[in-house]
Amino acid sequence: MCGIVGYVGSRPADPFLIQGLNKLEYRGYDSAGICQLNHEFYVCKTKGRVSDLERALKHTPLKGCIGIAHTRWATHGIPSDENAHPHFDCHQNIAVVHNGIIENYRQLRSMLINEGHIFQSDTDTEVISHLVETYYQGDLLEAVCRAIQELKGSYALAILAKDQPNQLIAVKQDNPLIVGLGQGENYLASDIPAIIDHTAEMLILNDGEVVRLSKEKVELFDRSGEQITKKPVSIQWDPVQVQKGGFEDFMLKEIHEQPQAIQDTIAGRINERGELDLDREIPPHLFEGVSKVQFVACGTAYHAALYGKHLFETLMDIPVEAELASEYRYKRNLADDKTLLIAVSQSGETADTLGAMRLAKAKGARTLAITNVLGSTISREVDAVLYSHAGPEIAVASTKAYTTQLACLCLLIAHFCRLKTGENLAALLLALRGLPDKMSQTIKENAAALKAYGEKIRSASDTFFIGRGIDYASAMEGQLKLKEISYIHGEALAGGELKHGTLALIVEDVPVVALLTQPELADKMVNNLKEVKARGGYVLLLTTDQESDFSDVGDQVLRLPEIHPLLAPLLTVVPTQLLAYYTAKARGCDVDKPRNLAKSITVE
Ligand code: M6R
Repeated sequence: MCGIVGYVGSRPADPFLIQGLNKLEYRGYDSAGICQLNHEFYVCKTKGRVSDLERALKHTPLKGCIGIAHTRWATHGIPSDENAHPHFDCHQNIAVVHNGIIENYRQLRSMLINEGHIFQSDTDTEVISHLVETYYQGDLLEAVCRAIQELKGSYALAILAKDQPNQLIAVKQDNPLIVGLGQGENYLASDIPAIIDHTAEMLILNDGEVVRLSKEKVELFDRSGEQITKKPVSIQWDPVQVQKGGFEDFMLKEIHEQPQAIQDTIAGRINERGELDLDREIPPHLFEGVSKVQFVACGTAYHAALYGKHLFETLMDIPVEAELASEYRYKRNLADDKTLLIAVSQSGETADTLGAMRLAKAKGARTLAITNVLGSTISREVDAVLYSHAGPEIAVASTKAYTTQLACLCLLIAHFCRLKTGENLAALLLALRGLPDKMSQTIKENAAALKAYGEKIRSASDTFFIGRGIDYASAMEGQLKLKEISYIHGEALAGGELKHGTLALIVEDVPVVALLTQPELADKMVNNLKEVKARGGYVLLLTTDQESDFSDVGDQVLRLPEIHPLLAPLLTVVPTQLLAYYTAKARGCDVDKPRNLAKSITVE
């Protein structure tokens, strides 16, 4: 997974390209590169981050009002200057940046080498520049359309030819690509935030679409080169949302944005009487005859899926599975036309989730997505979409996307329940309306204690997160957050499982974060914590219980506001996010761009 960006206009291209790369860096930061055209290609590429590229550019100024650029998350070939994009053909006439994977690149590479092409990198991408070279006879669009006929895999591409000074060709296949429509200039990028400062008018490309950008116009074609038309959309995101807004990091900003994000998720969907209106977004017929629900998702979104499973099982009499999307296609699958498949994905682009959804669809399942990104691939392919309206989430570690997914799941269960049983889950929905204030209170009252706790555990090598019932899913999300940005190992356990093995690792001062929000499980959880305390574990207890005395089982007890038990996960996750953030800061980690990771994973 990588980020690509392109510009054609009358101004120097590099300010837009570099700004775009900085916005797209969450998609990968192993290397970065830029190519501008002004009679010649002016190229600068380097291993490392966009800031390294910017440093290198001080010694290699670029020229040109047309250009392409790339930030890489390495798949084929190590992170290095040579493997940084753009990649060129044998004569440096064709420049290509690519997001995706060319699955048949080995065959293509040996075929091209046999034909005499000389390769400079280990990447799969380089076959594209040589293929375009093979077909190029002065018409870049035609050469690209012929080259992509030979590609298998996923690709968002931006391509320049040295002798075409006012033409940029781009292609979208299974990876996102957006065209921004300006006045006398046009833009290209992997996502909306990279463009939104410059224009709100955008074309969201579909798979198989090819686009020719010049400074005067944008023309759209299908993959055989036939011209097609499509209406631009006007994107309503506020450009200020994609800045840090005074916070030190995007992650901290996004944690603080959660009360507003939840408000945006429920706005216009629940009224003051706790009545829900989702009929336009999710047509009632989607649920008719549904006898089974399957959730598919990855990572944090999978933890949201576990929450969804808990809601459906608790409130409806229907079998529910929550599957890791990466496993879903490789096991026996009972999806059929009575199955409702719910894909949860912030980006709407995760390859595993997309693949799982497509398989279920092929088996006749009805499909629904909970996603944050308008026009994303998953949102376009499912029968219905419930947008989470979290706004742009830039930090790799998901925070507001997660809590808004949980809020969407509450909306969804209420909608489903009303249609199936006539029952309106007004108490749950009204409690959801009250959630933003409780989130704000949670942040305000606990941030300082969590910062102190994060500093205390900064040198820990292992941490454990425990909970029972729905708190177990929250524990899984808490440990993932800590692990991914602080690099401290974390393990999540259902409280009752400790004694079946992991208790052996609980020794003096080992940090244990415990979640206790479900009244019917409280006594059992206390017993589990006693087992931990008896071995010397250092317990941070997060609870919504306002009365019980937990001083014998919690070294530190943070009491969160009282809340509807089914909404507790939307509250308890906030302190675990802050804990992860402060621990990572105490260790000097780059919280927004953790090592080896990227925001959305569009490869299997
Ligand atoms: O875009 P998606 O929600 O489909 O992404 C799935 C996971 O890659 C994602 O949730 C990941 O686990 C988080 N960024 C971790 O914080």
